[in-house]
Parts: sequence; C-alpha cells; structure tokens
Amino acid sequence: MGESGNISSLSTSICEDGYSLDSGIQESDSVPEVRTANGWNGTTVEAKDPYALMRDCNANSRLTAQHYLWRELLGFLIHSDIDTRAADLRVADVATGNGIWLQDFARGKPPSTELHGFDISLDQVGPKAWLPANIHMHVWNIFDDVPDEFIGFFDIVHVRLITVVVKNNDPRPILANLRKLLRPGGYLQWDEVDTIGCAIKTVPGVSAHNLDELFSQLRGHDTWKYELTQIMDENGYTGSTLYTYEYGLGMARFWSDVYMSTWKEFADNALKTPEASRKLERNAMVETMNGASIMVPKLVWVTKKIDTAGESVL
Ligand SMILES: C[S@@+](CC[C@H](N)C(=O)[O-])C[C@H]1O[C@@H](n2cnc3c(N)ncnc32)[C@H](O)[C@@H]1O
Repeated sequence: MGESGNISSLSTSICEDGYSLDSGIQESDSVPEVRTANGWNGTTVEAKDPYALMRDCNANSRLTAQHYLWRELLGFLIHSDIDTRAADLRVADVATGNGIWLQDFARGKPPSTELHGFDISLDQVGPKAWLPANIHMHVWNIFDDVPDEFIGFFDIVHVRLITVVVKNNDPRPILANLRKLLRPGGYLQWDEVDTIGCAIKTVPGVSAHNLDELFSQLRGHDTWKYELTQIMDENGYTGSTLYTYEYGLGMARFWSDVYMSTWKEFADNALKTPEASRKLERNAMVETMNGASIMVPKLVWVTKKIDTAGESVL
C-alpha cells in the first residue's frame, strides 16, 4: 500500500463520529487547502486577516499554555465582581483566538448558557462539530459594525490580549463596539499584559542584555492602559475598576518561555528579519536557561455598561 493509503486507513480508524475521512484526505504530494470559516468553523461577518502573529500549531500551543497560566495566576475566568449565575447567561469572547477561554468557561454551565466567540480568523479553533452545542463562533472584525442580531445581546463581554489590535494608542473605537454588544447593565472584562510596567529579573550574576534587547522589541508604548479606567467611565461605562496581578519568581520561567515564543512568532511573521533575529533569540534563550526571566504584570479591567432607564442600547 502507498503512503497515502496508509494515511487514509489510519485517518478512517481514528474517526469518532461514523464519518469516513477518506474523501477528505489529500494525496501525500499535494498541499491541502486551508478551509475557510464559512461552513467550517462558524459564520462569517467579515473576513480579512492582517494579524501579526501566526495561526499554526506552535501559535496555538502558545495560546493554550498562556490560557492556563493566566487562569492559574488570576484564579478565575470571570472576576467575582461579575455575576455569572443566570441560567440563560449570554457571554461573548471577542478576539477569541483558539476559543480556549470560551471552552473553559463553558465547562459546568447549563446548556441554556449562550456563548459566542468572535475573531477575524477562526483558523485556530477546532471544528465546529466538536464544539459544545452552546458555543458559536463568528468571523468578525472588532472595528466593523456590530451585527444587528448581537446589538444589546450580551450580559458579559470578555476580551483578552488585544494590545496589538488597539490603533493609535486609542481604545475608544473598540470600547464603543464592545458596548454595543452589551445589554444595558451588562459587564465588560478586559484582560491585558502590562507592556510598560514589565521588567527583566535575573539570579545574581547572570547577564540578560540579549533578553532585554529582544523583549524591548515587544515592549509597547501603550499608555492607554494607564488611562483605560477613566476612558471607560467617560465612554458609556460605569464603576470601572482595574485589578493588577503579578506572578512570583517561581512561575517566571513558565511565563518567560511563553513570551520568548511570542517574540519568535513576531520575528518570523512580522519583522521579516528572522536570520538576524535568530542569534539574538539563541543568546536570549541561553540567558533564560542561566536564570533570567521576563516579568509581565497582568491587568484586568471590570466595567459595566451604563444602565439608564429608557436609554437606547447603543
Ligand atoms: C493574542 S491573541 C489572543 C487570543 C485570545 N483572546 C486569548 O487570550 O487566548 C489575539 C487575537 O486577536 C485577534 N484579532 C486581531 N485583530 C482583530 C480584529 N481586528 N478583530 C477581531 N479579532 C482580532 C487575532 O486573530 C487573535 O486571535
């Protein structure tokens, strides 16, 4: 039997749901097509993908590892300021990535809970048929008009790690669209990294100038993060609160590895100078192994859409 025959029979044998994969298997010397979101992972509202990072298995593994590190550090998916007990809760995760936050949140919730993920690409999400029935994925750009069916729809909107999405140091257009998704009195939780308040730490005597140089390329000038609480309160939200979380040195290597991977993805995909970057990356990795780490505090804002009697949901 030829190589593709082996692949084909293996694929058929691991099929769990009675469908044969034979017809979908490509010949081993052909390049399989990437299937688009339409009819595959979700609905498409707008499909353009100028994203600076990658969407392959390494990128996905990074998101997955990162998610569990976040959860371990915060100790929650949704902050206790937000009531999640309603059986018919409607939750959106915008810029959902591989959807891991949403899938984690879905666990233990009744099927009546409605969960929607939005992203410019669903290439990182598992097949729709394998998602819990109450999770729905949509291709949507956060800067585009909010689809009519989702205006004022959600009790909770969650967004995490969209620093690179914020344009011109101004989160207002994003806040305005997230607000449109919320019902009056609905909550927004926005989780970010503190790209200014981050630091390099080393054990005594270890140099970290390569790690520092590498990381300075990721370090931002995102001053909007220091004003976001006030910006929220001035733009249709109320009671906005910022919570800060910092990991200890015992967790530093785990986080640093994630940030090294982020940088590698960024260098390969966006800097377009991977050769020049590789030496820096190798040296930074040696410094990491010797006892140097990137320390990045985490920021979580909790805020509420103003609930004025008689006000329009917009
Ligand atoms: C760093 S990932 C974070 C993924 C996820 N929120 C998490 O924390 O695991 C950023 C995500 O933002 C998405 N994204 C980038 N630009 C976007 C836009 N204009 N509208 C919606 N999503 C966008 C990317 O496709 C990517 O999945």
